[in-house]
Amino acid sequence: MLDRPMYLKPDVAIEPLFNQWYVWWYLISPATAPLFVSRLHLKLMQSFVANPDVHVAALQNPALMGGPFINHPVSRVGDVKALLERTTREQADMLAYTKAVSDLEQLLASSKGESLEPLYAKVPDLLRGYVELHYDLAHRANARIMEPLLYRSSLYKESSQSISLMRVSGDARKYVFSTPRLEGDSPLWLQVPFRHEGIDALFRMRHTPGSPGQVAEMLGVPSSAAEAFADLFTETAPRKPEPYTGPGVRVRYFGHACVLMETREVSVLTDPVISYEFPTDQKRFTHADLPERIDYVLITHGHADHLMMETLLQLRHRIGTIVVPRSNAYSLADPSLRLVLEKTGFRNVIEIDDLQEISIPGGSLMGIPFIGEHSDLAVQAKTAHLVRLAGRSMLMAADSNALEPRMYQHLAQLVGPLDALYLGMECEGGPMSWMYGPLLSQPLPRKMDQSRRLNGSDSARATEILNHLNPKEVFVYAMGQEPWLRHVMVLQYDETAPQMIESNKFIEVCRGRNIPAERPFLSRESILE
Ligand SMILES: [Fe+2]
Ligand SMILES: [Fe+2]
Repeated sequence: MLDRPMYLKPDVAIEPLFNQWYVWWYLISPATAPLFVSRLHLKLMQSFVANPDVHVAALQNPALMGGPFINHPVSRVGDVKALLERTTREQADMLAYTKAVSDLEQLLASSKGESLEPLYAKVPDLLRGYVELHYDLAHRANARIMEPLLYRSSLYKESSQSISLMRVSGDARKYVFSTPRLEGDSPLWLQVPFRHEGIDALFRMRHTPGSPGQVAEMLGVPSSAAEAFADLFTETAPRKPEPYTGPGVRVRYFGHACVLMETREVSVLTDPVISYEFPTDQKRFTHADLPERIDYVLITHGHADHLMMETLLQLRHRIGTIVVPRSNAYSLADPSLRLVLEKTGFRNVIEIDDLQEISIPGGSLMGIPFIGEHSDLAVQAKTAHLVRLAGRSMLMAADSNALEPRMYQHLAQLVGPLDALYLGMECEGGPMSWMYGPLLSQPLPRKMDQSRRLNGSDSARATEILNHLNPKEVFVYAMGQEPWLRHVMVLQYDETAPQMIESNKFIEVCRGRNIPAERPFLSRESILE
């Protein structure tokens, strides 16, 4: 039965895991993963093992979902304890790395502007040969971590990567970033690294029939899971995508910041986050609506709702080129997205710089500075993408916060007037610690934490962008409201949420100027002729 050509069922989901935790970019880079394991995962597990009732009680309150609480019942304490012990034992070098990073910070803080040469001998042993010490021009000492070298060290642990496969019957999934997966959660938990070719063979079967038996062999599916694995496949062919053969650009909103732009010549997909397919009244595009080959995937930044490994791994086999922003090698907060993707099996990953232009069939791509939204950290790996196709121009600005409207004034000549502006409006993002806390060696004072938030633009800032770039049409997107994002974005906004109030206000501003504006939800299609 398993050797007849079959398709992957459209409701099959994958969870990429690191030490059994749902993965995001900071858990792939060996420069940052140890900090998250030591300062987040272990702490959460220790807290759960000591007081599971506190976690269970906290999660009764939906407002605390997304907080530092493990979403397992008290009865799973034994399994969490086992994972805690195994992580502490097997990842001892990660704990040592975390201590070395914090010792190095202290060492650098003691420097007084004189030569850093004598300090090399005092660099914690584990980091020696992996860092260059330097001053900025105000004589503050810092270290450049040689990330590509770290990927070649034992700190890059492919053995900690695994995948879990499951069928989903709806959008409802629990929030993933604060809860590890435990033994027995899924019969199809497979110990393969993310770059494994079996993952491509499996997801190719979404559109091209293949042999489940062969894929099972590639992925090392144990015989005890053979039945669960066989249940992932069907003889029924999926819906066929409708290729675009008309004039201009067909633009399809797939939800959140994911937009597919197609001409007769080329397909471009931004920040892929694609819904699975199952019976639902909420009409949406799914994997079945994607072209068999996606020529370009554009990533705006590393946040998990934009660089979603879960979706990217499923698309990897059909992506031609993937374009990412360049990172800042001098900041531990900014691991290279190119390396994250190359090391996890993506081919043709290219970095784009601010104002760099890349030709594509029938048009071009340009990196446009994306400022703000990263708690004032030295993160450079963020870009807006200006997509020019068939004589049309679209700016995919993601969570850009127009902190300095003058930047858009400087850009106006180069960018505007636009056919369409896509802008997020997460004007009240989480506090700094929510995303970046584990990167910090020192505790973060509450006042600092609350003031340095992950804020995108509000209506006033967005209006400044509007004033300078003169778009013909505006879309407020990347609002995280599609139900298939609930496992990575906890918040569902009602009409009183500042994100809704501000985006409604901005949409009114646009309409007042006779610029069509809307906040797409679920799906949308338009043709720019
Ligand atoms: Fe973001
Ligand atoms: Fe976002």
